Amino acid sequence: MPQPVPRLEIRALTRSFGGRPVVNNVSLTIAPGQVTCLLGPSGCGKSTTLRMIAGVETPDSGEILIDGVPVFGAGRTLPPEARGVGLMFQDFALFPHLTVARNVAFGLQGDRDSRMKRVSELLEKVNLSGYGDKHPHQLSGGEQQRVALARALAPRPRLMLMDEPFSGLDNRLRDGIRDTTLEVLKEEGAAVLLVTHEPDEALRMADEIALMRGGHIVQRGSPYNVYNSPVDKAAAAFFSDINVIPGVSRGALTLTPFGDFLTPGHADGGAVEIIIRPQHIKIDFDRAGRGPNPTPMDGTPARGTVTRARFLGRESLVEFSMDYDKSTLTAAVPGVFLPKPGTVLWLMIRRDRCFVFPAHPRG
Ligand SMILES: Nc1ncnc2c1ncn2[C@@H]1O[C@H](COP(=O)(O)OP(=O)(O)OP(=O)(O)O)[C@@H](O)[C@H]1O
Ligand SMILES: [Mg+2]
Repeated sequence: MPQPVPRLEIRALTRSFGGRPVVNNVSLTIAPGQVTCLLGPSGCGKSTTLRMIAGVETPDSGEILIDGVPVFGAGRTLPPEARGVGLMFQDFALFPHLTVARNVAFGLQGDRDSRMKRVSELLEKVNLSGYGDKHPHQLSGGEQQRVALARALAPRPRLMLMDEPFSGLDNRLRDGIRDTTLEVLKEEGAAVLLVTHEPDEALRMADEIALMRGGHIVQRGSPYNVYNSPVDKAAAAFFSDINVIPGVSRGALTLTPFGDFLTPGHADGGAVEIIIRPQHIKIDFDRAGRGPNPTPMDGTPARGTVTRARFLGRESLVEFSMDYDKSTLTAAVPGVFLPKPGTVLWLMIRRDRCFVFPAHPRG
């Protein structure tokens, strides 16, 4: 069967500033109706990538196709307004002197009736029916944000490009607005490229996450896969705090205080790091110097002493100094539990939640 044409395809996109490549050989496809989050730390090249797709930044090389048609590449550069792309940025400025309805109608063509019909349809979708005659200064931040969304969607863009569109909103507003936005985008069937540096936002919004670092896409996949099967230590660390248990692989086995780990594919004598998220460390009581029995799931317990415990509401973050080498491990435990510093406890790590990577000497 022929593959459906992606809504957006970028091929080997590259852009340097002052001789330094900030977007380096980036390729990506997005299907119609799909939300892809470009996620990565500050300065990794996310906005530059988005701006090249929008047409406001010119790539040094590479190709950009929308619905299979080149908008950049092969000697062709379509101006931004001819790309059929909707834009939404963090500092989405509404026109202050225009009413909400006129703001939303701004990019619309056609006769007055059809424009007004589209405006009221969109205001209803973003739960702002009846706000059409108000001016932006009469709206809250969240309401203004929804008007901006309606305005960007009004001309039915095939592709929505969003750059940190929720970062100006306070936390409590943000979750609700993310959900409304996602619902409306899905209904409209636009393909979406959403830039964010917040892993929680990407996990919540994305069908696919493209994890970016230093101008490269280092991993692409569903939120579940990117979180649970990171390609390297930095990819794991981008989503949560991590614990690192060092070891040496011998004969495809690494011996640690938490028991033996199968480490096939690692060089014999090679240093490895076993990575575990705080959520996947279990703790148990000390029974007169003994811990719980080892299990195939949780391996061997190792003993540690609480050095710090922070109550965060739903969970508590507990830091331990481990008996075996005085290193620090952090466990996230349910918030009902807040052990005092000095408490001796036993830690076990969920073996199926560990990631093993070769330890690279720091360069
Ligand atoms: N016009 C420009 N001239 C020179 N350097 C630039 C220009 N635009 C971006 N850069 C540099 O390119 C790098 C990537 O910038 P970009 O805005 O794409 O990062 P980002 O991933 O969006 O970061 P953030 O999360 O902070 O928004 C940065 O180091 C930035 O300083
Ligand atoms: Mg940016």
